[in-house]
Amino acid sequence: MQEHRLQQLHEDFKRCFEQEPSVCVRAPGRVNLIGEHTDYNDGFCLPMAIDKDVLIYAAPRDDDQVRVYSQQTEETAQFTLSNAIEKSEEVSWSDYIKGCAQILIEEGVSLKGCDLALTGNVPLGSGLSSSAALEVAVIHAFLQICDQSCADDKIAVLAQRAENNYVGMNCGILDQLSSACCQAGQAMLMDCRSLHLDQAPLPDSVSIVIADTGKRRGLVDSAYNERREQCEAGAAALGVSHLRDATMHGLYQAKQDGKIDALTLQRCEHIVAENGRTQAAAACLRANDMEALGQLMDQSHADLRDKFEVTCVELDDMVRIARSLPGCLGSRMTGAGFGGCTVSLVESNAVDEFVKALEDAYKKIHDLPVAVYVTGAAAGAGPISLASSVS
Ligand code: GLA
Repeated sequence: MQEHRLQQLHEDFKRCFEQEPSVCVRAPGRVNLIGEHTDYNDGFCLPMAIDKDVLIYAAPRDDDQVRVYSQQTEETAQFTLSNAIEKSEEVSWSDYIKGCAQILIEEGVSLKGCDLALTGNVPLGSGLSSSAALEVAVIHAFLQICDQSCADDKIAVLAQRAENNYVGMNCGILDQLSSACCQAGQAMLMDCRSLHLDQAPLPDSVSIVIADTGKRRGLVDSAYNERREQCEAGAAALGVSHLRDATMHGLYQAKQDGKIDALTLQRCEHIVAENGRTQAAAACLRANDMEALGQLMDQSHADLRDKFEVTCVELDDMVRIARSLPGCLGSRMTGAGFGGCTVSLVESNAVDEFVKALEDAYKKIHDLPVAVYVTGAAAGAGPISLASSVS
C-alpha cells in the first residue's frame, strides 16, 4: 500500500520537476486515546500515531524558490524564501508549507530552494491531525534538504508555531508532538508542560477503532478559542498559570467565593478530571488493565459532552452505538470535537464484527459518509530511505 503510494508520488515528482528526488519523508496523523483539551492547559494527553500519513519527495534547487505539487489537489504552488513569506488570501494547503519555511527562517536555518511533491491519506478536517502531519513532514523535508538535524520534539514545537503564528490556528502541542514523536506499537503519555514523553505499549488483546462520523467540524476555531479563554479565565481566577495546577477543591472554593461562574466551573472541572484520567489511563496500559482503561475513556466522553460541551449528536450517537456492541471496552470522541471521529477500545477477537455493526447501525440514523476502521499504532515521523522508496 505505502509502496504503491510512494511509487506514484515518485512518478509525479519526476513529471512535475524533471529531476530525481534526493529526500523522502513521512509523518503520520494521530488519534488521541484520552486527554482532550488538556494540552493548552499544560496537562497530559495519551495519543498514538495512526497508519495514515503524509509522504513527501524533495530535491534541492539552485535558487531561492520553493515549488510544491500536491497529489491530492493536483495543484502546484510556488513561493520565494524570504524573511516575510506572503500568505495566501484564504488559508490554503500551501500556507502550511509557507508557515514552516517562515518559522525555520526565523529560527536562523539557512533554507535552500527546493521542489516538493506531497501526498496524504489522513482524512481532512476529521480530527486526525492532517495539518500537523503535513507540517511535521514539511519541516523534516526542509531540514534534510539543507542537511540540518533537529530533535523530534523541537520539530513538533516549530510545527506548532507555524500553525499558531502563520496559519492562525491557536492549537496546543498535542497533534504535532504525536506526529513527530510517537513510536510503533505504543501509545504515548505526553506531559505538555515539560514535553516529557513516556511510551506505553498497546497489548495485542485490544484493537483501536476509529469511526469517522462524516460530520465535518463547523465553527471549530471560534468554539475552540472560546473554550481556551474559559480555561484561561478559570486559571487566572485561581491564581495559577494553567489549569494543570488547579484542584477540584480549589475550583469549588473559587465558585463559592464568587471568583468563577457556573459555566467556567463546569469547563474547568473537565480539565482537572481529564488530567487525572489521562495519567490513570497510562497506568492501566502498563498494568494491562483494559477494562479500567475503557471506563476512563467512557468518563472522558461524558465530561466532554456534558461539561466541556464539545460533542455533537453524531459523535454522541457513534459512541452510544459502539458501547452497545459486544467486545467494546470504551469509546469517546477524539480531537477538538464538534464533529470528526470517535475512538473505541475493542477486544481484538470481536473487532471485525464490531467494525461492521457500528457502521451499519450508524448509517441507519445518519445519512453521512461514515468510515470505520482499525488502526495500528504507527511510528512517528522520519525519513524513508530513497533506496527502499524508489526501487
Ligand atoms: C485539536 C488541537 C489540539 C488539542 C485538541 C483537543 O486537535 O489541535 O492541540 O487541543 O484539539 O484535545
